[in-house]
Amino acid sequence: MPRYLVTGAAGFIGSNFVDHLLARPQGEHVVGLDCLSYAGRMENLAAALTHDAFTFVEGDINDTSLVAALLEEHDIGIIVHFAAESHVDRSISGPAPFIHANINGTHALLEAARAAWRAGDGRWREGCRFHHVSTDEVYGSLGEDDPAFSESTPYAPNSPYAASKAASDHLVRAWAHTFDLPVTISNCSNNYGPRQYPEKLLPLTILNAVHGKRLPIYGKGTNIRDWLHVDDHCRGIDLILTKGRPGETYNIGTGNEWRNVDLVNLLCGLIDDLFAARGDLKERYPRAPAAHGQKTKDLIAFVSDRPGHDLRYGINAEKIRALGYGARHPFKAGLKASVAWYLDNQDWWAPLLAD
Ligand SMILES: NC(=O)c1ccc[n+]([C@@H]2O[C@H](COP(=O)([O-])OP(=O)(O)OC[C@H]3O[C@@H](n4cnc5c(N)ncnc54)[C@H](O)[C@@H]3O)[C@@H](O)[C@H]2O)c1
Repeated sequence: MPRYLVTGAAGFIGSNFVDHLLARPQGEHVVGLDCLSYAGRMENLAAALTHDAFTFVEGDINDTSLVAALLEEHDIGIIVHFAAESHVDRSISGPAPFIHANINGTHALLEAARAAWRAGDGRWREGCRFHHVSTDEVYGSLGEDDPAFSESTPYAPNSPYAASKAASDHLVRAWAHTFDLPVTISNCSNNYGPRQYPEKLLPLTILNAVHGKRLPIYGKGTNIRDWLHVDDHCRGIDLILTKGRPGETYNIGTGNEWRNVDLVNLLCGLIDDLFAARGDLKERYPRAPAAHGQKTKDLIAFVSDRPGHDLRYGINAEKIRALGYGARHPFKAGLKASVAWYLDNQDWWAPLLAD
């Protein structure tokens, strides 16, 4: 039975992936590794920590002796690599941590896997796999009428974040090509769902709205992103691990493209509807316009655009669909449930706003 190392396990997607693995009947052992940066939180692993099959280790993926010891002690056969600096705005104000975590960290992990999994006869340990979690941002920006990104779209990363992820993808690809390490890569569209750090568009919008603060939208709000529920991202990675071919890259997405301004307006409407339906929200969030029957969308404020802001990302997911992939969360229902999660989990986000 495979034993997993999940890096970045205390972050948004990593923690959801750990929960996904632990919910399966197979009962595989899962080790979560995370350095607990500002985005990594033990609260995200509250459910996982109640499982005997889960072990958490605090540490940096660049710590080669720690990673080597973990691979050996826990007999790890599958690495699912989420650990990264992930916020584009932070990469613009300070790129160095992105080079350390995303490029150097991926290199360190690849080398640890190469050392641990080499079998005596020059082949690799049976069933081992290094899965690298990446983003559609490596492909650069699409025009409004361009065909969506496919796996053969040339890389053209525009932000320091995207460039660091592109570099890490190239390292993973090279370790497969040169050393024949069994790797897969996934490039996914924008995720939404529970436990996303409140610097990102969806939680930022929801939490600002309940505090009566302005809802900033870059530029004219015409930038387009392709949105996927975090559970559907996790299911896609799992499918690639079970049915994907080593050495291959798979895009994950559903072609669910939204202009930022339309998405924020949709969120505002969902917040208004939830406040209208639930009296408890009016009491808990008295500063929200929706608590007084006013429209949340009146808080929208257009702000100076992000430097180098990509116009559009869109995913052509034909290749993973051929493995049997389909998203399970209808977008508006998934978004409504996510808004309700943030409104009902003040204990999760309040300490972050205090910071
Ligand atoms: N959020 C999205 O919409 C999205 C979409 C596609 C791909 N991705 C990719 O998915 C992965 C996870 O993204 P996320 O949104 O969950 O990010 P996140 O910022 O919420 O979590 C990243 C986690 O990695 C940990 N980490 C950072 N540097 C580390 C290091 N050197 N050693 C150990 N742990 C470290 C952090 O502590 C944090 O827990 C990233 O690789 C990101 O590029 C994200």
